[in-house]
Amino acid sequence: MTDSTAMPKKLFIKTYGCQMNVYDSERMAEAMGAKGYVTTEVQEEADMVLLNTCHIREKASEKLYSDLGRLRPLKAANPDLKIGVAGCVAQAEGAEILRRMPLVDLVVGPQSYHRLPEMVEAGGKVVDTDFPTEDKFDHLPARKALRGPTAFLTVQEGCDKFCAFCVVPYTRGAEVSRPAARLLAEARDLVSRGVREITLLGQNVNAYHGAGEGGDWTLARLVRELAQVDGLERIRYTTSHPNDMEDDLIAAHGDVPQLMPYLHLPVQSGSDRILKAMNRKHTAEQYLRLIERIRAARPDILLSSDFIVGFPGETDRDFEDTMDLIRTVGFGQAFSFKYSARPGTPAAEKPELPAEVADARLQTLQALVTQQQRAAQDAMVGREVGVLYEKAGRLPGQMVGKSDHLHAVHVADPAGQVGQLVRVRVTAASTNSLAAEPLLG
Ligand code: SAH
Ligand code: SF4
Ligand code: F3S
Repeated sequence: MTDSTAMPKKLFIKTYGCQMNVYDSERMAEAMGAKGYVTTEVQEEADMVLLNTCHIREKASEKLYSDLGRLRPLKAANPDLKIGVAGCVAQAEGAEILRRMPLVDLVVGPQSYHRLPEMVEAGGKVVDTDFPTEDKFDHLPARKALRGPTAFLTVQEGCDKFCAFCVVPYTRGAEVSRPAARLLAEARDLVSRGVREITLLGQNVNAYHGAGEGGDWTLARLVRELAQVDGLERIRYTTSHPNDMEDDLIAAHGDVPQLMPYLHLPVQSGSDRILKAMNRKHTAEQYLRLIERIRAARPDILLSSDFIVGFPGETDRDFEDTMDLIRTVGFGQAFSFKYSARPGTPAAEKPELPAEVADARLQTLQALVTQQQRAAQDAMVGREVGVLYEKAGRLPGQMVGKSDHLHAVHVADPAGQVGQLVRVRVTAASTNSLAAEPLLG
């Protein structure tokens, strides 16, 4: 038991990488909260610093080491300071992190972080990168930390796809779906505490096939049941693989009003040759047909994607195919990355393109997607949209939230309250956000 008269210990968490890490950080904060730790935003006053890391690209994992270097003076000033490394670099590098950075006390992988409190209590240097047989979610305390009216809910973890460039199948392990009843309970609990929008998360979220009443449920079934939860106004999900975009999920985009009209559907490349080398298991044409079917179900859906440029063997022609695909689809948003060879992945064995070639292609691609994004933002001006207020804006009388299509919106609304879902008219657009005013009545 914690001594209630003692000052609570302070935990500082820094999160790198994807939304699943954001969710995991919240759960780790809650697990440590049950042991008397409160979170702080001020690293200097922390009794424990936890870095929840990402291994997806070289730059992402190198951030860990530069941040650890910066912690040296803090640890020197306070030898009792505990330093933990969690997440995908922890999983990939394990004890190597302790060797390279002796100031680290504990290393915990994404599947074993429910054991974090006991690791901290045990003291000394600990590494736990097991894929335990027990389900970590069964061992975590109930949700507590809420970031306002929106919440993440991890429904599926891991990946069996083994794209040739990607570390996720190694750092997060095989695909596992959480049982539907647990997810419905977690969602109801979140809603009872003011959450109005839930984003369902998974490295391969649309491959969800969790145990439910009457057999395994698909993501579409889960979405339909969540739509019955009173007070849950908005549902989103991310990230999906094109090959798991089944008919029932596409149909749900057409007939479940709570399912928001935004879909992040990474394609990575528009060249069949490169898609094959990437082991994506679909062609550019198949992706385009899929987009047509999704748009038929929900014509106003805003599409987003991820692209990798400079994959080994990518020619100018392959790159042009990617540019063509982007022109054909017209994305409202897109994330693009220069290929980064990751240790242990099949693509890392292949010769890399000259950096300047990849850099130039990345710039060209980004110019096109920025142009498309800007056009999509501009097209919103004058339109009426729903916005969920997430926080007060920087200007007086201003509220900030997301539109149904996931645009960031600044609304001039002095009477606005966090958690309110309002109809607004868009008055102006920039590349990254919209300005709007509430519709009266
Ligand atoms: N599960 C998701 C994405 C996971 S990683 C999916 O299947 O799409 C997020 C994005 O990082 C990927 O979509 C890809 O575009 C990018 N990425 C992954 N590995 C990469 C690498 N080795 N180099 C550059 N970008 C990479
Ligand atoms: Fe990585 Fe996504 Fe491919 Fe899985 S499907 S290997 S997470 S890019
Ligand atoms: Fe990064 Fe791991 Fe997420 S590698 S993108 S933190 S699954």
